Amino acid sequence: MEKLYTKDTQAIFWNNNKTAIQRMLDYDYTIQRKTPSVAAIVAPTSGNKFEKFFYGPDEIMVPLFKSTAEAKKAHPNADVLLNFASFRTAYDVTMEAVELGGFKSIMVTAEGIPERLARKMNNAARKAGVTVIGPATVGAIVPGAFKIANIGGTIENIVNSKLHRAGSCGLITRSGGLFNELSNIIAINADGIAEGVAIGGDRFVGSVFIDNMLRMEKNPDVKYMVLLGEVGGTEEYKVIEAVKSGKITKPIIAWCIGTIAKHFSSGVQFGHAGASANADAETAAAKNKAMAEAGIHVPASFNDLPKTIKEVYTDLLANGTISKIPEPVINTVPKVRRSKEFICTISDDRGDEATYAGFPISSVATPDTGKGIGDVISLLWFKKQYPEWATQFIETVMKTVADHGPAVSGAHNAKVTARAGKSVVEALVTGLLTIGPRFGGAIDGAAQHFKYADDNGLTPAEFLGHMKKEGIPIPGIGHRIKSLKNPDLRVEGLKKFAKEYFPATPLLDYALTVEQLTTSKKENLILNVDGTIGILMVDMWRALGYTEDEINEFISSGTLNAFFIVGRSIGFIGHILDEKRLAMPMYRHPMDDILYDVPVAEKI
Ligand code: ACO
Ligand code: LMR
Repeated sequence: MEKLYTKDTQAIFWNNNKTAIQRMLDYDYTIQRKTPSVAAIVAPTSGNKFEKFFYGPDEIMVPLFKSTAEAKKAHPNADVLLNFASFRTAYDVTMEAVELGGFKSIMVTAEGIPERLARKMNNAARKAGVTVIGPATVGAIVPGAFKIANIGGTIENIVNSKLHRAGSCGLITRSGGLFNELSNIIAINADGIAEGVAIGGDRFVGSVFIDNMLRMEKNPDVKYMVLLGEVGGTEEYKVIEAVKSGKITKPIIAWCIGTIAKHFSSGVQFGHAGASANADAETAAAKNKAMAEAGIHVPASFNDLPKTIKEVYTDLLANGTISKIPEPVINTVPKVRRSKEFICTISDDRGDEATYAGFPISSVATPDTGKGIGDVISLLWFKKQYPEWATQFIETVMKTVADHGPAVSGAHNAKVTARAGKSVVEALVTGLLTIGPRFGGAIDGAAQHFKYADDNGLTPAEFLGHMKKEGIPIPGIGHRIKSLKNPDLRVEGLKKFAKEYFPATPLLDYALTVEQLTTSKKENLILNVDGTIGILMVDMWRALGYTEDEINEFISSGTLNAFFIVGRSIGFIGHILDEKRLAMPMYRHPMDDILYDVPVAEKI
């Protein structure tokens, strides 16, 4: 890996840490990234499907997933995992991601991961070729390309520290706070940084100074490096070795903080877990001396660091290694932003002409477009352009269920309501409210139960037994007047259409074996029109390439009954208009058609 991140890098963010994610997206907007740097969020306990964030003045939806595996499956290109899990779960989250594969780098923010686990985790990642940044870090940044969470601070600070575009310095620190301080110093005394990593303050971190510096050596954008080491540990000696052996040739400016330790009588533990010298060689003073001897630019004190940076930068500028960087155009994140209350993902009325899923109405409305109501439904209900066989099937369903005479529950109710003097819409909704599990609204149930049986390999007899145990009649089976002897020709028509035009009808084939069994018990227990529609819609969606999860979601949200609702509205309105045309008086049900059984109420 030559560069840690590019302008196309996308991350999966583990934990819905809204402030940190918003900071990343504000950064993306500022540097004019084409895609948001956070592709997905893993939020195991959330029931939500997305989280809204600002992208400049607008808002975008970032999808939420229950697990890293699901997020990675949906966003295979996101090759960075930002592990913001607590110290209790961070190890498991990293190990799972390493095992899943497909991540080039994993950043672990948690502080306090047990050292034994941290070592195991770092080793596993190293073996798998994954760069781990952290634990106990604010992360890393490739200015102008990708920034992790809170590194660099607020957007104002980022622009002030020139972290919005690539400079020439490769910056490596342990601490996040000093990282910000140094990027500011480098912005003032040089031209900013090309890549920066705060490796984290724990004793055992994933990628150490040398890992990052060897990568920066290969990165053509990095012209020199600034290393801020610390008292404790021997990692700086690996850098010294690399310089001596010629593995690192780019100029390095380095300083180890903690030189004050020598003024204390006993060993001092600084803020970081790793910041304590266990031997003379681990003291800041010894390391500074050794680095200077190896030819690394080591200032006389931390206060002289800016001066040294300026000198090295000026030399590199003078000898042509570094050229002046043109300042890029950036976007300004608005100060005041208002979150939107509603979201619409199907149609848009803001332009000259409203669109259905991106298609102007005129492109689907008139006969010359060749589009029908099936196309309009596929756009507005499913946000997809279905192939002709599928849109034709949808239209066939609508036409098939448009009406079934005045005697059926819904039509009867609509007629009675119209005759009570109610309006078309009032009478229509009365009819519509009759649609339910027994009448017209068994389509979702049929799809759900037959799919369950087929998915689980139940034989028809096992399926019947299962439904008996559930205590519900099989949705999609049975009809009041239709039977083997009086077949429902609507069902025959739908089956014929499917056999002719569907690529395959596995669920219908299964349902027909169930029907054989139910009709052998009672001849009206046929696969009815609701059942046929539900089952064939599943076959249609499978053939269209939907996943099982997507199909299950269509079913659970009531999508299938909606075909009956729209189709039968045509018939209901017909009956209502019929009543109005005939100027029918109010209906009163004949009393002789009612069994009155009303005993005198007991006194209690
Ligand atoms: N699954 C299992 N057994 C059934 C089913 C079924 N879907 N439907 C009826 N039976 C059995 C009943 O248990 C009853 O058995 P029993 O005689 O041993 O007591 C017998 O058949 C008659 O039951 P009814 O409810 O009187 O049947 P009816 O023919 O009057 O009802 C109805 C028709 C309501 C459609 C019924 O079959 C049913 O509830 N089906 C499931 C729901 C459904 O698919 N509705 C959509 C119908 S199509 C449309 O509305 C456009
Ligand atoms: C319908 O389409 O309304 C029916 O199948 C119900 C019925 O009883 O005819």
